[in-house]
Amino acid sequence: MLISFEGIDGSGKTTQARYLAEALRAEGRDVLLTREPGGSPGAEEIRRLLVEGAGERWSPETECLLFTAARRDHLERSIRPALAEGRVVITDRFADSTRVYQGAARGDLRPMVDRLHTLMIGVEPDRTFVIDVEPATGLARGAARGGTEDRFESLGLQFQERLAEGFRALAAEYPDRVILIDGSGSPDQVAARVRAAL
Ligand code: TYD
Repeated sequence: MLISFEGIDGSGKTTQARYLAEALRAEGRDVLLTREPGGSPGAEEIRRLLVEGAGERWSPETECLLFTAARRDHLERSIRPALAEGRVVITDRFADSTRVYQGAARGDLRPMVDRLHTLMIGVEPDRTFVIDVEPATGLARGAARGGTEDRFESLGLQFQERLAEGFRALAAEYPDRVILIDGSGSPDQVAARVRAAL
């Protein structure tokens, strides 16, 4: 099974991906916990190009190509081999991030995003959990964390609001796959919601 976690910056999805991986491992399942952009050596190199530097470093189109290149490598080198071995794969972000960040929030590129996805990726997760929080909350958490990977967070609150709306719209677009999870409360409370939904 391929499971993805999605959400705006600072939504807590990374923590939730880890909690679910630990819970499934405790039940004896073999789990690969991975992330995007990244998740394979080549894709981790592309990641640095994407998450560091100025907000306007890449055009939306170039950005889309880089994310898709990273995803393709991640799929070839990490995800597909793990699924072939019967492992459960949990990925922190996948194609829905490109649909929302590049396709909805930065210009009307969704048709291009969809065509690239069909051409180069062609798979969807079995289940996707969108951790839904208020954009102001997410941004505050991201700022508290610090670090240099702040290229998207640097685009501001309005941008985060468009993203949050984009993720909510995905749950309506893919009702059988994408599940909106209330991200408020403690990590344990959110994890319990994810588990119940799964
Ligand atoms: P991530 O490492 O998940 O950051 P965070 O833990 O802060 O949410 O992702 C890095 C950034 O890349 C994040 O701001 C979202 C963005 N992103 C896209 O714009 N498109 C994509 O396809 C992916 C996978 C990520």
